[in-house]
Amino acid sequence: MGLGSSTMRLIFIGPPGVGKGTQSALFASRMGIFTLSSGEIFRKEIEAQTDLGRLAQRYIQHGELVPNGVTIEMMAKRLREPEVRKKGFILDGFPRTIKQAEALEEILADLEMPLETVVSLEVNDQLIVDRLKDRLGCTKCGENYNSKSKPPTRDGFCDKCNSPLMVRSDDQPETIRERLRIFRENTADVVDYYDKAGLLKRVDSSRDPEQVYQDILTSIK
Ligand code: AP5
Ligand code: MG
Repeated sequence: MGLGSSTMRLIFIGPPGVGKGTQSALFASRMGIFTLSSGEIFRKEIEAQTDLGRLAQRYIQHGELVPNGVTIEMMAKRLREPEVRKKGFILDGFPRTIKQAEALEEILADLEMPLETVVSLEVNDQLIVDRLKDRLGCTKCGENYNSKSKPPTRDGFCDKCNSPLMVRSDDQPETIRERLRIFRENTADVVDYYDKAGLLKRVDSSRDPEQVYQDILTSIK
């Protein structure tokens, strides 16, 4: 695969808080790859109070998965946009079930854009809980912060666009536990699925973000 080329086709998979969004943002800004986060798309739909947003919110607020049908349809639509063909993609948070993985295979076969690598980001549960309890996100541009490991320059406001920062509504301890349970129940099987397909690379995501970034680069070479 051409590193630095515009045609990387990757999935970042892993439990909540492992760093999928942080690493996707680094790849997007440094390599110009198009990133698609199913969670981010849902949050935008919720904010805009669309029908899809209202439906998704019922599940997201409890840490449950949004049903496969609407999720697959939403991601298929994005993947078919011309920019994806031009820039390649990183999928963050999709697929999360075997049904979604199978549907993705069909969509990508149709687009003649087969997956190159699935990067499984891995940390222990305690670190996840620690990271999520301190996470802050920008209400406008979605930039990610952490009051301990990546604080904003001005308390409570985004470095990039100056908008207020907020705690995500699904980052409550009980909901985090449910999201972890759902990961083990559904998404761990998707990790195995890609392992069996010979596409999986495992990366230790407990190191600092720059090191994780370098390790991902090494793993996809
Ligand atoms: P989604 O938005 O995908 O949430 P998630 O998978 O729970 O993951 P997070 O966004 O919480 O964590 P992340 O891995 O991106 O970590 P981050 O980089 O922010 O999904 C939300 C919900 O939408 C789901 O629960 C579900 O309801 C629904 N949904 C989404 N996709 C779906 C699908 N396909 N099917 C059905 N339903 C779906 O990092 C976390 C924190 O740690 C940050 O503060 C960050 O600064 C910090 N951090 C990151 N890396 C490091 C590091 N190396 N060292 C120190 N700190 C770090
Ligand atoms: Mg995320």
